[in-house]
Amino acid sequence: MRKALFLSTLALLVSSFSLLRAQAPGETRSVWDGVYTEEQAKRGETAYSKECASCHGDMLTGGESAPPLTGGVFQANWNGLTLGDLFDRIRKTMPLSKPGRLTREQDTDVLAFLLSVNKFPAGKTELYRQSEMLKEIRFETKKPAAKN
Ligand code: HEC
Repeated sequence: MRKALFLSTLALLVSSFSLLRAQAPGETRSVWDGVYTEEQAKRGETAYSKECASCHGDMLTGGESAPPLTGGVFQANWNGLTLGDLFDRIRKTMPLSKPGRLTREQDTDVLAFLLSVNKFPAGKTELYRQSEMLKEIRFETKKPAAKN
């Protein structure tokens, strides 16, 4: 009796686990899902002008020695990676003259500004500030076909 109960509980557990796992892929999001807000991008623009524009240009089109942060080459570099990767890259290596100068909040805002200049749509919630969570958002150059 006890053993039968144990086995059926186990079977129930296993099936609910596979249900959870089956749902996971549907939840992956991309930069097309409105992952930042306009207000956040505005704050990011202020920080960008102060900390990044001198090298990357006011319009993010690059400078004499720094690459553009918008347009085909930039997007191709990041296509298929995640916002977490881009966030880490900025946090660990930028601004080139003094990496890590910006707070986590400022870096997130700047990332939101980059997304808006790259014409990814704004949404209702602000971008996450943790790279682990940003890793769940894919950077995709092309808008995916509508779900369903
Ligand atoms: C002193 C000049 C300078 C400043 C200031 C600066 N950068 Fe950079 N950035 C560079 C250079 C040079 C490179 C390319 C070489 C390298 O990666 O080290 C680069 C590369 C990058 C890349 C990678 C681009 C790609 O195509 O993969 C990103 C993203 C970036 N910078 C973001 C920022 C952000 C955001 C800021 C402001 C917080 C910033 N940078 C400030 C000079 C600068």
